[in-house]
Amino acid sequence: MVPPSMGPSCHLPCSTAAGVLLWCISVCLTLHAVRAQSATFTSTVGGKEFTTFSFPTFDRSLMQLPTNLTFAGNSSVTQNTLQITPDSNSASGPDNFLVNQTGSVFLSSPFVLWASEPAGGRYVASFSTVFRINLYRANATNKGEGLAFVVASSNGGGSPPPGSHGGYLGLTNASTDGNAANGFAAVELDTVKQPYDLDDNHVGLDVNGVRSTHAAALTPFGIQLAPIDTTVNDGFYMVWVDYNGATRRVRAYMAKNGSRPGVAVLDAPLDLSTVLLGKRAYFGFSASTGVKYQFNCVRMWNMTVERLPDSSTASRSMSGWKLGAAVGVPCAVALAIGLLAGLYIRRKGKMVAGVTAVDLSAIPGMPREFDFRELKRGTNNFDKKMKLGQGGYGVVYRATVAGEGGRSMEVAVKQFSGANTKGQEDFLAELSIINRLRHRNLVKLIGWCHQNGVLLLVYDLMPNGSLDRHLFGRAGDAPSPTLSWEQRYKVAAGVASALNYLHHDYDHVVIHRDMKPSNIMLDAAFNARLGDFGLARALDADKTSYTDRAGLPGTLGYIAPECFHTGRATRESDVFGFGAVVLEIVCGRRNSCCHPAGCSQLLEEAWELHGAGSVLEAVDPRLAGAFDEAEAERLLLLGLACSHPNPGERPKAQAILQILTHSAPPPDVPPSRPAFMWPVVLVKGDEEMYTSGSSATCSTVMTSSLLR
Ligand SMILES: *[C@@H]1O[C@H](CO)[C@@H](O)[C@H](O)[C@H]1NC(C)=O
Ligand SMILES: *[C@@H]1O[C@H](CO)[C@@H](O)[C@H](O)[C@H]1NC(C)=O
Ligand SMILES: *[C@@H]1O[C@H](CO)[C@@H](O)[C@H](O)[C@H]1NC(C)=O
Ligand SMILES: *[C@@H]1O[C@H](CO)[C@@H](O)[C@H](O)[C@H]1NC(C)=O
Ligand SMILES: *[C@@H]1O[C@H](CO)[C@@H](O)[C@H](O)[C@H]1NC(C)=O
Ligand SMILES: *[C@@H]1O[C@H](CO)[C@@H](O)[C@H](O)[C@H]1NC(C)=O
Ligand SMILES: *[C@@H]1O[C@H](CO)[C@@H](O)[C@H](O)[C@H]1NC(C)=O
Repeated sequence: MVPPSMGPSCHLPCSTAAGVLLWCISVCLTLHAVRAQSATFTSTVGGKEFTTFSFPTFDRSLMQLPTNLTFAGNSSVTQNTLQITPDSNSASGPDNFLVNQTGSVFLSSPFVLWASEPAGGRYVASFSTVFRINLYRANATNKGEGLAFVVASSNGGGSPPPGSHGGYLGLTNASTDGNAANGFAAVELDTVKQPYDLDDNHVGLDVNGVRSTHAAALTPFGIQLAPIDTTVNDGFYMVWVDYNGATRRVRAYMAKNGSRPGVAVLDAPLDLSTVLLGKRAYFGFSASTGVKYQFNCVRMWNMTVERLPDSSTASRSMSGWKLGAAVGVPCAVALAIGLLAGLYIRRKGKMVAGVTAVDLSAIPGMPREFDFRELKRGTNNFDKKMKLGQGGYGVVYRATVAGEGGRSMEVAVKQFSGANTKGQEDFLAELSIINRLRHRNLVKLIGWCHQNGVLLLVYDLMPNGSLDRHLFGRAGDAPSPTLSWEQRYKVAAGVASALNYLHHDYDHVVIHRDMKPSNIMLDAAFNARLGDFGLARALDADKTSYTDRAGLPGTLGYIAPECFHTGRATRESDVFGFGAVVLEIVCGRRNSCCHPAGCSQLLEEAWELHGAGSVLEAVDPRLAGAFDEAEAERLLLLGLACSHPNPGERPKAQAILQILTHSAPPPDVPPSRPAFMWPVVLVKGDEEMYTSGSSATCSTVMTSSLLR
């Protein structure tokens, strides 16, 4: 079966449409259940045409002409397997036969992968593939170099580039690496660490060169390419690569067994229409060995590609194209409107109060602008009795406002204190991003209001308030009944899911910057809804907006140690905050720290208990033993792993989600808390983010209060 191309969460209407379509294909394909060996067929789903082929196994006859596959360099078929580099010894000895080899195997016919749209812009085809690899370490002490799934403007032209052995994976060589003229994109499975690589066991997206634009270590996913001990791990993996032409994103998934996991090992933007040299491209594989070597094998290969009309045969049916346009054009229009709105906000920022209000509200999907008088009335003139709480950036009130069709609805109104003009401009620009974030574990923004220097945001009202109230109670509040174990686990999983969405699943990386229980809201069914995401960036230009946080106990415990040095919020610092929250959820008490010296008592105690082999003693005594021990241990180990002092050692949100969904084992945690190392070593992908993100700090007041 061909898997649907979308990940677990589709957020934009366009990608949803594409996701539904690809899902339809997968359903239809299973119904048709083509059993022929190495078969090709076309299908039509919702007016789009797709070509599907499948090689359940490979036959030597594929190497004879005329053939479906083009073999180049040292590739061949033996033992029903594509050997992208050779796998058997010869009289000349392994070192001559297996060392410094390169090979590629491409489909002989190209596919048209994009088309110009009448209105301008490009419609890009989607595809979905699955193949089974075996990277076998022929030499117990060495492995090298890697295998890549490739989409290229050329099919190798008879031989891979000269000098493309070793780290070049048969794709480029020292003089051509990185040239736009190469016209390819590849998903590499790399087993040797080059100076520019993050490790010797990673997946990466290569665009015109082997220095990956995005890469992810596979070890945290429990994946070991070319394993040493083949009695434990035979080195076979299923690899899924899904490309969504509408959202221009590529996602790769890996698993030992037949079913695709929910979490991608690689998720990266990729616009094939700008990478490829023309509209046509070849699909295939490329691999190399270096001084060190392994077998680079592909055992089966299925693929479904959306068919676009070939411009050279323009008389063909236009139905697929029309449907493409039907989906693509509204998206393009929506995007254009969004961009215009963004520009408008930036340019007219100073006039925000009056003018943009009207224009913004005309844009579908934009949060609605509320009339200040309505919010004033709805909150009883911001009556203290209507106060729900005091968050990081201001006070939150309950309010009743007019909703759809004039019915009244209950909302939460957050009044921001001390935002200056700069803050407002940035804020509205940010609002357009925040507004596009859609996830079941994020608090939904309903609208906004700006009047006389006061900013107000209107959110869905969360009937069960914030998590801290349930975990710790609040001074003056009647203590709430404590959360059950199931509720706690669900909350942790919900927050992880939201974090994964912000960090990896959304088109931009969104850093939350302020993970803590008071920012985690609970809906009627006690599902976690993360609030205040992205706001720090809009508001932290103004220090005074933090002043109300300085006195709050507990806040310091969520700030990653490196932040005190870098002053920058990163995905890793969010994960640190998440770790603190998880420990608090399990232990039911604050990661208390009124002053830096006493900062991480909970963390330290939990780590000590873990070292002593009795980590479960940290579980909230109020649960009176009513909890699942395996789950509690899983959460505690996860909380500790996320609290690792060194950012590079913390799990990524994707891995966290896998651990919480039980699709990955609990993390390994050292028995004692490791020392914080400075300077922090950053991995490549994150470095980019550090610089491209705003200069926003982890938290201005935290840094300054520490330095005081
Ligand atoms: C590959 O395609 C064939 C034929 O459609 C199907 O029987 C098989 O299950 C597919 N394999 C995978 C792993 O999807
Ligand atoms: C290979 O070519 C043969 C003959 O052209 C065709 O029947 C078969 O479907 C092709 N298989 C694939 C996987 O393209
Ligand atoms: C690998 O390919 C190169 C160039 O095509 C050739 O010179 C070399 O002999 C091949 N190696 C083997 C083992 O066939
Ligand atoms: C393999 O290539 C490396 C340089 O890339 C070279 O140093 C080495 O001598 C080559 N080994 C053989 C056996 O050709
Ligand atoms: C592995 O490769 C290294 C270097 O090429 C060689 O010295 C060693 O003998 C090889 N080991 C085996 C078991 O083939
Ligand atoms: C790289 O490949 C190109 C052809 O693709 C060739 O002209 C060039 O000499 C090669 N460079 C090296 C360093 O091998
Ligand atoms: C995957 O398959 C292996 C046997 O091939 C089995 O031992 C293992 O339990 C399976 N793993 C999962 C997660 O199903």
